[in-house]
Amino acid sequence: MNLNINDIEEKGYLDVSVNPSLDLFHEIEKLKKEKNAVILAHYYQDADIQDIADYIGDSLGLSQQAAKTNADIIVFAGVQFMAETAKILSPQKKVLLPDLKAGCSLADSCPGDEFKKFKEAHPDHLVISYVNCSAEIKALTDIVCTSSNALQIIESLPKEQKIIFAPDKNLGAYLIKKTGRDMVLWNGSCMVHEIFSLEKITQLKNKHPKAQLLAHPECEASLLQMADYIGSTTGILNYSIKSACKEFIVATEAGIIHQMQKSSPEKTFIPAPPNNTCACNDCPHMKLNTLEKLYNCLKYELPAIEMDAALIEQAKKPIIRMLEISEKLGL
Ligand code: 13P
Ligand code: SF4
Repeated sequence: MNLNINDIEEKGYLDVSVNPSLDLFHEIEKLKKEKNAVILAHYYQDADIQDIADYIGDSLGLSQQAAKTNADIIVFAGVQFMAETAKILSPQKKVLLPDLKAGCSLADSCPGDEFKKFKEAHPDHLVISYVNCSAEIKALTDIVCTSSNALQIIESLPKEQKIIFAPDKNLGAYLIKKTGRDMVLWNGSCMVHEIFSLEKITQLKNKHPKAQLLAHPECEASLLQMADYIGSTTGILNYSIKSACKEFIVATEAGIIHQMQKSSPEKTFIPAPPNNTCACNDCPHMKLNTLEKLYNCLKYELPAIEMDAALIEQAKKPIIRMLEISEKLGL
C-alpha cells in the first residue's frame, strides 16, 4: 500500500479506501489493543464514534483523561484545539486526529497577532481563555478554563482582579452576569450555538409545555434567559439524567442527544431548531471525523499532531493551572 502523505496537507486525512465488508468496530478494537491506543471522543461526535470510544466527555473531562492516560497513542475524536490540548499535556505520546481540518469557528475568531495587541492594551489584566482557542492563544493566557469550571475559576480570583476573557463573548457575558465581575471580552463566538431560532424554540415550548430548555453557555443571552438549565455538555447530560422531567429541548450541538437518549431511553429529547432549514446544530468541524477516517488514522498512525516544543511549554502552564484549580475544587 502506497500512502499518499500529500493527502494530509490537501484533504486533512489519509484518503485510503476502506474495504466495505470490514467490521470497523472489531478492527478498531483490535488495533487499539495491538498499539496500546485509547480513543477519547467529544459528545459532538457521530454516534458510532461515541460508541467505539474508551472515554466520552466534555472538554474538561477529555483534557483530564489526556493528562492521565497510560496509552502510547491517543486518538482524539474531536477538533484540533482538543487534540492540541492532549498533545500539550502528553507531548511524549502520539496524538492522532482523524481529520486535521476539524477546526473550530470559535478558535478561529481569535487570531494570535490580534489577541496579542488586545492583551497589550490591557497590561494590568489577567487573561482567562476558554479552552476553545489555539495553542498560540493559550501561550498568551494565564488560566485556561472550560464551560465546566469557568465560573469557579473566576470566583477563585480576588474580586478586584481585572480580567480579559477570551474568545467567547457569549460565555463571557454569561459569566459577567453570574459573577458580577467587570471582565473585558474578546468578540468571538461559535457558529453552532448562535444559530438557534428563539421564535421556533418558543413555538416548540408552546407545543411541549412540560419540556425544559437545556442550553450551553456558548448560546446568546436572549436564549440563555429562556433556559431552565445552563451548563457544559456533561452538565446538560447529567441534568437530563437526574431531572424528573420527561421532555427536553436541547440547545447545543445535536451529537450530545445520543448519550442523553442512551442514559434515559424513556425520555424525549428535541434538538433546538436553527433559524433556517439546514442541519446547522451539527458542528461541521466535529462532523468531519468519520469511523473510516478514525480506522485509517489508527492503522497508519496518521495524521498526528505536531507542535513546536517551545509553544508546548508556554501553552502548558495555563492548562496545568486549570487542572490544578479544578482538582482542588473537586471538579
Ligand atoms: P464542552 O463539551 O466543554 O461543554 O464544550 C462544548 C464545545 O463547544 C466544544 O467544542
Ligand atoms: Fe467550535 Fe462550536 Fe464546533 Fe464547538 S461546536 S468545535 S465551539 S464550532
